[in-house]
Amino acid sequence: MRVYTSKTELNAFINTEKSSDSSIGFVPTMGALHHGHLSLVEAAMVENELVVVSIFVNPTQFNNPEDLNKYPRTLAQDVLLLETLSKTKIVVYAPTVEAIYGAQTSVESFDFGGLESQMEGQFRPGHFDGVGTIVKRLFEIVKPDIAYFGEKDFQQLQIVKKMVEITQLPVHIKGCPIQREANGLAMSSRNSQLSVLELETAALIYKTLQSVKQQFLNDAPEEISEWVRTQFHNHELLKLEYFQISDIETMAPIRQKNQTKKYRAFIAVFARDVRLIDNIALN
Ligand code: PAJ
Repeated sequence: MRVYTSKTELNAFINTEKSSDSSIGFVPTMGALHHGHLSLVEAAMVENELVVVSIFVNPTQFNNPEDLNKYPRTLAQDVLLLETLSKTKIVVYAPTVEAIYGAQTSVESFDFGGLESQMEGQFRPGHFDGVGTIVKRLFEIVKPDIAYFGEKDFQQLQIVKKMVEITQLPVHIKGCPIQREANGLAMSSRNSQLSVLELETAALIYKTLQSVKQQFLNDAPEEISEWVRTQFHNHELLKLEYFQISDIETMAPIRQKNQTKKYRAFIAVFARDVRLIDNIALN
């Protein structure tokens, strides 16, 4: 499999491969790949002749330096995993921080129309400016026709769609369903930092979301939120950071149900210092 660290070489390769009617699919990742990532690559392979997977742990989206330091970096293993899908239709772009940001790491500031101030934006200040900065930069380098993002990070998916709208970059954004472990826990690169017991216990996150979906048929959002808080209250291993039922267009918390709107429940939980997020469609 071709693994590029230089954007010039990546572009040269794409230009030789790309014919006038072929399309480029793009899956941006931070590596430590798992089947959630692979599901995006598979979706991209169905719709494009060539798929570029970027592997880049983006420093500007981490608000916690320790989290950045301990983020798993497993490039050789990631390449082997991608090779199980295809050695020829997939190319990896794994630039250095220096190549992306130069000597002075700077972040662009975006106005995502309020999407950035909820949940992940509230608890991880600056996170979405970092995401916007890197995704825009990667889109400019790779110039994909279609880019694939997981609903696992649903707020990020909405932010990226908004960024494309603002910047008018000619790329189509597709959302892909959340892939889960057998016990329901959403797959995540961070799961590798959990003990066996924590992995088992973290199944409570999705179990809670499933129950929330049932309750949403009859109960008020505030009642449901209170119930979720009690599920995690004084829990031995898991600490609730936030739970919120949001309108997916604005990401703002719901006040009253409206038949014409789409809602999702969002949750962030700590297992020790490992931060896990998940969400579920409610209607
Ligand atoms: P990362 O966390 O590596 O995720 C890369 C992509 O895989 C994202 O679109 C994410 O939503 C998707 N993904 C992760 N786990 C998934 C799962 N269980 N099911 C389905 N999709 C899943 O998200 C990022 O990296 C970064 O913020 C990035 C967009 C690469 C910018 O740096």
